[in-house]
Amino acid sequence: MIKIKRLDDNLNIEGKRVLLRVDFNVPINDGAITEDSRIEKVLPTIKFLINKKAKIIIIAHLGRPKGKIVPELTLKPIAKKLSNYLNQDVVFLSESVGSLVIQNSKKIPNGKIILLENIRFHKEEELNSVSFAKELSKIGDIYINEAFPCSHRAHASVCEITKHINSFAGKQLLKEVNVIKLLTNNAKKPTTCIIGGSKISTKSGILVELIKKMQNIVIAGAMANIFIKHKGYNIGQSVFEKNQENLIENIIQESKKNNCNLLLPEDVIASKNHNSKGVLKSLDQINDNDLILDIGEKTLQNIINVIDESKTILWNGPVGYFEIDEFSAGSRKIANKISENTKAKSLVSIAGGGDTVAAINKFKCSNGFTYLSTAGGAFLELLEGKVLPGIKALEVNE
Ligand code: 3PG
Repeated sequence: MIKIKRLDDNLNIEGKRVLLRVDFNVPINDGAITEDSRIEKVLPTIKFLINKKAKIIIIAHLGRPKGKIVPELTLKPIAKKLSNYLNQDVVFLSESVGSLVIQNSKKIPNGKIILLENIRFHKEEELNSVSFAKELSKIGDIYINEAFPCSHRAHASVCEITKHINSFAGKQLLKEVNVIKLLTNNAKKPTTCIIGGSKISTKSGILVELIKKMQNIVIAGAMANIFIKHKGYNIGQSVFEKNQENLIENIIQESKKNNCNLLLPEDVIASKNHNSKGVLKSLDQINDNDLILDIGEKTLQNIINVIDESKTILWNGPVGYFEIDEFSAGSRKIANKISENTKAKSLVSIAGGGDTVAAINKFKCSNGFTYLSTAGGAFLELLEGKVLPGIKALEVNE
């Protein structure tokens, strides 16, 4: 029988080196962490390991340094944050693999923690390299995957490593997977998925699969810009991904074929730059100097109407530049509406992704959602019905 080995309360790990893979890919601005729910979520596991007197070695990544050392993407500020949370020193090592790290791992006093430097500074991580994973495995006696948000990545510290060391699924990882599956497997219809974010290419496969399952798909945020352009409108200076016309056409055709209502912006809030006032514009009023920074009133009303009709809502990606108040109205009103309907018990709502959760927290709506997931891409891939490689890697035949 295929099983996932889980972290058992009775496991004797006193004095053992526990290699803990977490996802600390949090937003950092000028060295300050602006949203830390991913750190908070794994604190129970870290405290459990401290109480068990394990030697804890944490592996994590930040951003996409593409195998190079990018000083802005160091995990140093996270070590400080973690020390504050745990009220104990978290030692930061400026390397994440090699003999020095192995030596240090052996010297950690029981119940103490070291955090290794950004694992993605090594290109072998994303290549899921066997030799790199073997090297990593030497840093611990057992391995725990507590990194649900990056378990859709077949990377060395998530996948290949499990072949070289006794490996377990963390409690938080299993909880997230089980709750999301429970809430979505027999989701009440109509089901609506609101998708924002910037890159259509990373989400197009997911979108095509979701179109087959959902009654409504809302596409907003920077991702919608390319749809607006595809319709023949000017999008000015707004960000968009080039050469994606085939993907766009495929998404439009699939939604027609599957009778899925595809909701796109009909108006926008545009501005000359992030510091200027936003102006409500219909799509044909956008000019060469404009940046699209939020959805317009008509679009918002369309989305609110769809939320009112829905029994299940899944949300990944804010619909505007919510970090700046001037452009946060769309995301704020959507968060409020979902929260209001969820509290009135007419709606099951799940939101996922760092920015989405940050927006919901900013608007003080977090207690109005059925579930908030720390994951973005992994959350969507789970909804799509995919087996995540990081979770598959934890399966054993018993
Ligand atoms: C995330 O933030 O969704 C995860 O950490 C994965 O990051 P990635 O998309 O850069 O692989």
